[in-house]
Amino acid sequence: MNDPNGMVYYDGEYHLFYQYYPDSTVWGPMHWGHAVSSDMIRWEHLPVALYPDSLGYIFSGSAVIDWNNTSGLQEGNEPPMIAIFTHHDIEGERAQTKTFQCQSIAYSNDKGRSWTKYSGNPVIPNPGIKDFRDPKVVWDDLREQWVMVFAAYDKALFYTSSNLIDWTMSGSFGIKEDHRLWECPDLFPMTVEGAGETKWVLIVSIQKDAPNGGTATGYFIGDFDGKAFVGDPNSQQWLDYGTDNYAFVTWSDIPQEDGRRVGIGWMSNWQYAQLVPTYPWRSAMTLPRELTLHQSEGNYVLRSTIIDEFNSLKEQQDRISLAAKQYSSFTEIAADLSGYSAVELNCIVSVPKSGLVSFRLSNSEKEELFFGYNVSDDTYFIDRTFAGKNDFNKEFGDYHIASAEYEKEVLDFRVIIDRSSIELIADGGRTVMTDIFFPTSRFNSLSIDADSNDIELLSGSITPLKRIWH
Ligand code: FRU
Repeated sequence: MNDPNGMVYYDGEYHLFYQYYPDSTVWGPMHWGHAVSSDMIRWEHLPVALYPDSLGYIFSGSAVIDWNNTSGLQEGNEPPMIAIFTHHDIEGERAQTKTFQCQSIAYSNDKGRSWTKYSGNPVIPNPGIKDFRDPKVVWDDLREQWVMVFAAYDKALFYTSSNLIDWTMSGSFGIKEDHRLWECPDLFPMTVEGAGETKWVLIVSIQKDAPNGGTATGYFIGDFDGKAFVGDPNSQQWLDYGTDNYAFVTWSDIPQEDGRRVGIGWMSNWQYAQLVPTYPWRSAMTLPRELTLHQSEGNYVLRSTIIDEFNSLKEQQDRISLAAKQYSSFTEIAADLSGYSAVELNCIVSVPKSGLVSFRLSNSEKEELFFGYNVSDDTYFIDRTFAGKNDFNKEFGDYHIASAEYEKEVLDFRVIIDRSSIELIADGGRTVMTDIFFPTSRFNSLSIDADSNDIELLSGSITPLKRIWH
């Protein structure tokens, strides 16, 4: 699988569709796989929702609840669930036409269990732009219109509609002189924490030259004038500095009483997604993350935190408390993690004057994953150079950094470690890094690597996590 698609909440269920080729572990004719959850943590697989058809493969897109039946596609008493996606005509691509991607819709009147493709597809034909995909639709409450954003090569295009069927192009947004390929945009309003001001967020995944190589998810903060996103094209920031959070998009229709903006990303990178040594599965999603918008040192920034529902996985009775003290030599803090599916490390550490705050995960094969903070360049880091299999791609085994150039009194780590992934959330979500890795046996030991300098731990714990599958 790859990108998350069609994320929508309806009647107690969070839906997660995703790019899926059921017949292979390498990319192929794309379908929309489907899963549902009542808490975004424990999932139930449902049958494939959308199959390729005469217009092509089913590429990425979104879903909304058409509460007022603006589309007229409702049958029965419940509002229809509408999926908006890209049709990718593989024959057209092979014939080197430029018009092989277009936007189409499908609808469900039974809570996403069965789907009908709209008979008038595509709803937005291709005007001659080769990369023309990944529609995300949002309801603009102020102007009572549907807004669609999608990627057109190196920019985002905006269309508006009153009924999800007839669309008019209304604007575009891009970075001048920057021709990296854009994919999977998302657009939504957010209130700045503690300020009451509303800004619009434009998320864009970028297919090249991410901070640590390959593909990653970035964002802009600006406004929406009813037609297009308006913002400074040179103000792009990164949602996640790891190499493995791509195509991150957010749920539609989370009820107002809840009010959160929650999203999920695909935990891989096109540099090596088709080569990673896993079988029979390939790829997973990040944990669901809640985004909040903050003003910080004159800038608008997003913070990401793992949603609260995640805490229900914690095996509180098995929690290991870490002694608050100065660690002056290499110290193992958990010797046998092998009985647990995954663990969460929480700790607060003083900012040292120099050197590293470094943690090490290891196994009996002497494979090692390091993560922590480096004073010399004010960065968080994950080093997977020696973390197991990496010969499948020359770019894979590497040292990744995240700039943390902002005021901080202490270093605050929240780290979720699963068998093949690490999600490092620092400083209350201000810095995030997601990386995958492939040890030949499970990492079972966690150490504080205080060999080169002292590390002052102010508080800390390791909490085992339950499996999400029953
Ligand atoms: C991003 C992407 C999308 C496209 C889909 C195809 O990972 O390339 O742009 O719709 O994957 O699977």
